[in-house]
Amino acid sequence: MIELEDVKAWYGASQALFGVTFRVKPGELVALVGVNGAGKTTIVRVISGLVRSSGQIRLDGRDITATPAHQRFRQGDIAVVLEGRGMLPELTVIENIVIGLDGRHKDRLDEVLELFPVLRARHSERVSNLSGGEQQMVALARAIVRRPRLLILDEPSLGLAPLVVNEVYATLEKLRAQFDMTILLIEQNIAMSRKVADRLYLVRSGRIARELDATDVNALESLSQSALGIDGNR
Ligand SMILES: Nc1ncnc2c1ncn2[C@@H]1O[C@H](COP(=O)(O)OP(=O)(O)O)[C@@H](O)[C@H]1O
Ligand SMILES: [Mg+2]
Repeated sequence: MIELEDVKAWYGASQALFGVTFRVKPGELVALVGVNGAGKTTIVRVISGLVRSSGQIRLDGRDITATPAHQRFRQGDIAVVLEGRGMLPELTVIENIVIGLDGRHKDRLDEVLELFPVLRARHSERVSNLSGGEQQMVALARAIVRRPRLLILDEPSLGLAPLVVNEVYATLEKLRAQFDMTILLIEQNIAMSRKVADRLYLVRSGRIARELDATDVNALESLSQSALGIDGNR
């Protein structure tokens, strides 16, 4: 589905990625985990075409490394839910979800609201009046309504209360079952991501430090305590 090979990336003269190689196969849910500043969001930006990079990025075997950002999304192959969410706060829930959506696909709205009963109840509310968790669901709904084949989520649990995090993750499970979506999940929260991920990669200092087996709980526990340097239950 998506493959990165020896990807390096720079912000001006400062290098942020030092040769990142990994792949996500069709139908997989793969998590990239790592501390703040490890390079996770830069990997998302590189896939989106927003950061200068070298190496190769392939989507379904096609080299998209030189494809401009807007073209990568035009066919709706990829959807990204960014850290910080990027909502239009003065617009309503529905308006935010369907913004830029092809009129033919408005029927998909019902399907998406089915996944998020909270949003159905508050569909004509301005997004600025929603809680952080509800806003995250709007961001997710906006991505899902486009039916991307690859959905990328950058720290969907950041700043959310534990109950809301559970809800977001439960939605990911439903998505996979219902829409056959391939998901790349970016997380600091190992305890959550290991419950849903088929595979996990540890990102450290702009590199993929290693691939982790999601069932290898012992490795994950020692990682969350030492190598990762954060509390896995955060
Ligand atoms: N817009 C930017 N300009 C310059 N440096 C950046 C920018 N965004 C991130 N960086 C740097 O790139 C490195 C990786 O950051 P980032 O990809 O945001 O990590 P993560 O998402 O894992 O927290 C860090 O050293 C960070 O300071
Ligand atoms: Mg980040």
